[in-house]
Amino acid sequence: MPDNDQIRTHVADSYAKAVTRSTGCCGGEKETRGVAAQWAGYSISDTAELPHDAVVSSFGCGNPLAFSEVKEGQTVVDLGSGAGIDLFIASQKVGPTGKVIGVDMTDEMIDAANRNIAEAGVENIEVRKGLIEELPIEDNSVDWVISNCVINLSPEKDKVFSEIFRVLKPGGQMRVSDIMVDELPEWVRNDQRLYNTCIGGAISEDEYLAGLRKAGMTDARAVESLVYDASQIGPLIESEVDGLDSESESCCGSSSCCGGGTKIADMDEVKRAAKDLHGKVRSSIVVASKPA
Ligand SMILES: C[S@@+](CC[C@H](N)C(=O)[O-])C[C@H]1O[C@@H](n2cnc3c(N)ncnc32)[C@H](O)[C@@H]1O
Repeated sequence: MPDNDQIRTHVADSYAKAVTRSTGCCGGEKETRGVAAQWAGYSISDTAELPHDAVVSSFGCGNPLAFSEVKEGQTVVDLGSGAGIDLFIASQKVGPTGKVIGVDMTDEMIDAANRNIAEAGVENIEVRKGLIEELPIEDNSVDWVISNCVINLSPEKDKVFSEIFRVLKPGGQMRVSDIMVDELPEWVRNDQRLYNTCIGGAISEDEYLAGLRKAGMTDARAVESLVYDASQIGPLIESEVDGLDSESESCCGSSSCCGGGTKIADMDEVKRAAKDLHGKVRSSIVVASKPA
């Protein structure tokens, strides 16, 4: 059994490969990666003004800021901010008097986000390197914690829930999009690649809400959910396994890049997972508050 640090290293390696590949593979058009984000989330108007790379390098499973009441001048923290799509949406909401802080552990993701921030010339976003289990953020300092398809990847979810409670100001709110599962088969739980695709490490909605309440959060509830059927789980995993399993630095001509074909072993696994997971995986928006 890998320990928690080994799990995080596998996750970081996989997203380093994925974001590197999504920026400029084969010199052609950048591909959009996270298919779950396309189903669960952003309207054209949400993304029209954002840096192109932040949008195509999105690996989320929803839009945590849709219908949120984030206001001008507030501070927002995004756990596992990736290439930055939600940082930019939050930045527009808080305006020049507000502040947005992204936290991520993967250097390649942080580099991508910083390139996108520089390209957009946005001054109210800062990305910090760190773990969501040990946030590099002051106690009682932020109005909102958001996150998009990240907490499922943590091997220490109770620590993450405690950190959310710690950094929020009294009365502060959490709004995250994440994957929830019901009764995963053992083989899925034990497959690191399916862990990396946001399924193998996910917990049930009841466990998620109980973890938040144990950390001190109140009014924890799921406000919307999208249940994936087999026809959605296949492409969801394929889009990740394809890239995450690539050994090739130079992707041109390889069998596993640019949508040019998934390895046969991966396809067998994708089909088996799609069948076994039909109806058991969903993305949900979960909200909770720190008591005032
Ligand atoms: C599925 S991607 C989502 C990225 C982004 N939220 C989005 O919607 O595009 C997961 C991100 O979380 C980061 N991550 C995963 N586990 C983490 C941890 N324990 N601490 C910090 N970052 C983590 C990864 O590096 C990656 O950037």
